[in-house]
Amino acid sequence: MTELKGKKILLGITGGIAAYKSAVLCRELKRLGADVRVIMTTAATRFITPLTLQALSNQPVHNDLFEAESDHGMGHIELARWAEQIVIAPASANTIAKLACGQADNLLVTTVLASHAPLYLAPAMNHAMWRHPATQANVELLISHGVKIVGPDAGEQACGEVGTGRMLEPGEIAEHLQQQFQHNFLAEKQVVITAGPTWEALDPVRGLSNRSSGKMGYALASACKDAGATVKLISGPTALHPPYGVECINITSAQQMADAVMANISKCDIFIGVAAVADYRPVNSEKQKIKKNQETVTIEMVRNPDILAMVAALDNAPFTVGFAAETENITSNAQQKLTAKGVDMIAANPVSGDNSAFNSEFNELSLIDRNGITHLSRCSKILLAQRMTKEIARRYHETYSTKDS
Ligand SMILES: Cc1cc2nc3c(=O)[nH]c(=O)nc-3n(C[C@H](O)[C@H](O)[C@H](O)COP(=O)(O)O)c2cc1C
Repeated sequence: MTELKGKKILLGITGGIAAYKSAVLCRELKRLGADVRVIMTTAATRFITPLTLQALSNQPVHNDLFEAESDHGMGHIELARWAEQIVIAPASANTIAKLACGQADNLLVTTVLASHAPLYLAPAMNHAMWRHPATQANVELLISHGVKIVGPDAGEQACGEVGTGRMLEPGEIAEHLQQQFQHNFLAEKQVVITAGPTWEALDPVRGLSNRSSGKMGYALASACKDAGATVKLISGPTALHPPYGVECINITSAQQMADAVMANISKCDIFIGVAAVADYRPVNSEKQKIKKNQETVTIEMVRNPDILAMVAALDNAPFTVGFAAETENITSNAQQKLTAKGVDMIAANPVSGDNSAFNSEFNELSLIDRNGITHLSRCSKILLAQRMTKEIARRYHETYSTKDS
């Protein structure tokens, strides 16, 4: 039995080339047992016929806000009440913009506005449209309203250009939807996650940092929250919006991150250290900007606190998970880290070459614990975080049921 069996899913289709993939998504949702109803925008009907979706969903396809046949002419209210989940795939830049400002001028956006169902958007557009500050601001706003954005993927686009903007594959979108109906496997658990880089000041304007974007840590915070946990995210400087429903504590330096972790660790069940914490900081941070009046400058550095080892060494330590960003000997270095720091699990990821995780939407991980290695293959960080959260929860429950018995 799948998590989607008998679930009422409203599939919204907007006007983009990727609309042809919506037919496959509709079929996949039906195969997984969902009851699917479809709303197409007028632009969407220029890309794929309603007849195709009608045949695949085995239901009439809706398009008209002023549909006379619907109960009291209130089709949008009927569909809004009916849906347990709404997914718009592809979600055009235009529809994303309308949703961000609460516009209600067609059946799809009016239904979304009238519904309490969780909303998933699978954006698909030219990479320049996706990167445009207007689209990015709209997406950030929707995330802050609790909307789940799945994708987009990177690669060659229908317009012939290469970049981020391809709709996720239908199978991946279906996996995201299933996630919501899964058992709350971290219910009543408290999770603390660190994310992003740290910034070690050299003077008031310069500092030492690294290329971590924070995306993996933020995705994990979102996945743990979706699994029912109460999540605190302790974040270095990033450009990301904290996931909906997650408490975010912003810090700058490694020492501040260590202080914030220690202040929030006492009731924590699971600690996940994803942040790329600077190993060293300058002994002195100059009060004034360092002048360019010498040929060479020597900066003396001192070790920063090892947050992961500090947490793992606590009496009543939480289930502790660390990340190892490695450029070589990924597995053996991660195994050494597991033993040296006394943590429960290390997630090793490559940060060099074409598959580097830094500043990418994608990643792959090897999860290493005392029983062996589990490899999570390359996919979006959002999906990877969901898969990793399940692996962490399984090991957490195994560990604590063994300790209790
Ligand atoms: C050939 C063609 C392909 C298009 N592909 C996309 C696309 O992939 N993503 C997108 O956001 N807009 C795309 N557009 C523009 C949308 O169709 C247009 O903004 C439309 O108003 C969207 O309406 P809707 O959001 O109500 O469906 C495309 C337009 C054309 C003519």
